[in-house]
Amino acid sequence: MLVGEGPGATEDETGRPFVGAAGELLTQILGSIGIPRESVFIANVVKCRPPQNRKPLPDESTACLPYLRRQVQLVRPKVILALGATAAESLLGVRKSLGVLRGAVHLYGGIPLVVTYHPAALLRNPNWKKPTWDDVRIARQLLDR
Ligand code: URA
Ligand code: URA
Repeated sequence: MLVGEGPGATEDETGRPFVGAAGELLTQILGSIGIPRESVFIANVVKCRPPQNRKPLPDESTACLPYLRRQVQLVRPKVILALGATAAESLLGVRKSLGVLRGAVHLYGGIPLVVTYHPAALLRNPNWKKPTWDDVRIARQLLDR
């Protein structure tokens, strides 16, 4: 299961997660660890697009969190991959930088959770691709257990 931040404009219109350039990159990243995109459930922290596509405010994330928690309970994923700091901080209930949270296995309600960069951030900072591939390989290994 992947958890992003919130729908963008196109995602809001189509009701589908990660449809733009970041979505294509995400499909590639999953493909690189042998996971067809159709086999993952993609959720977001907030369920509608914040004005001007800004980051969700803490109270907005908090308001949507019970819904996400229920999605996790229903999907019962083997691994959760949190995409970006918003998802990581919301799920783990911490305020830490992505650099600190990535590269390790956390737990969310007993489910292994790996944190990595948001694909939109990767489009802006190609230097983060290598660490992202390291993170998704950790997730892949957890999936194979
Ligand atoms: N970015 C996100 O965080 N989630 C989406 O669904 C699309 C873009
Ligand atoms: N399938 C997904 O992968 N994500 C949703 O949010 C809904 C259906």
